[in-house]
Amino acid sequence: MSKKQAYYKMIESPEMLDYGVYLQCDKLLSCQKPLNDLATSDELQFQIVHQTEELWMKLMAFTLAEIMDYMAQKQSHRVVTLFNRVHRLQRMMIEQLSVLETMSPKEYQQIRLQLGNGSGQESPGFRTLLKMPKDLWDGFNEHYLDNGKISISSIYDEEYCHDDKYAIAEALIEYDELFQLFRWRHLFLIHRSIGLGSDSLKGRPVDLLQSGASKRFFPELWEIRSEMTNRWGSAYGKVRPSISGKS
Ligand code: HEM
Repeated sequence: MSKKQAYYKMIESPEMLDYGVYLQCDKLLSCQKPLNDLATSDELQFQIVHQTEELWMKLMAFTLAEIMDYMAQKQSHRVVTLFNRVHRLQRMMIEQLSVLETMSPKEYQQIRLQLGNGSGQESPGFRTLLKMPKDLWDGFNEHYLDNGKISISSIYDEEYCHDDKYAIAEALIEYDELFQLFRWRHLFLIHRSIGLGSDSLKGRPVDLLQSGASKRFFPELWEIRSEMTNRWGSAYGKVRPSISGKS
């Protein structure tokens, strides 16, 4: 047996001690194509990056469901800590996409032939995550905004005191921003591997993804920024006098 094949055997069927038994490493390591059947050596990283991202999305969705419960109990410190975990997972997911940019466009074409008409839009984790923002907002509205009686404007401007409501609103907008950053980062990955002018495996133009990436889950939290700029700006009109006297 060649050295390479000996290592393949070690990678695919290692001895399971307690660590491996508890983590079910035998199952985990058999979730990828057998190493000798890969269409190209890049296919292993392609599968592992996608599978890892699915696991992070599973943990994110689980954590967001916990956040909804803690909002209902008004346990704001818990909510903020758990959002912090979700934000770290989102940053990791964005960063991980770059691993796939080490794959050449040609090798990706070889892998793409294996994919049937599968699409990232069928990702189970992503589809669950897309359903959750509405419930997050409803929970925030019910338990922190007194069902719409407390306005976003009062939290950010008139009665601003950096309280629990403000901290959670900022955690929500951070989630929104990082979610869309993932989509934009993913667009660059597509641009680099198959190009934006092509069609997806479902036959849809790839650049349709740009409209998804421009959406906002919590528009009120974004709008308050421009409302405040207009309100505060009305004191000086559109253009202020120069401070230096030179511009
Ligand atoms: C070279 C790597 C990749 C390529 C070429 C690629 C390509 C694409 C394309 C063409 C679409 C549009 C599908 C359609 O309209 O039916 C798409 C969607 C998507 N892909 Fe990827 N993808 C790659 C890697 C990844 C990775 C690593 C993830 C990890 C989670 C991912 C997750 C998604 C998601 C969630 C969508 C739906 C996005 C949305 O609706 O905004 N993709 N991908």
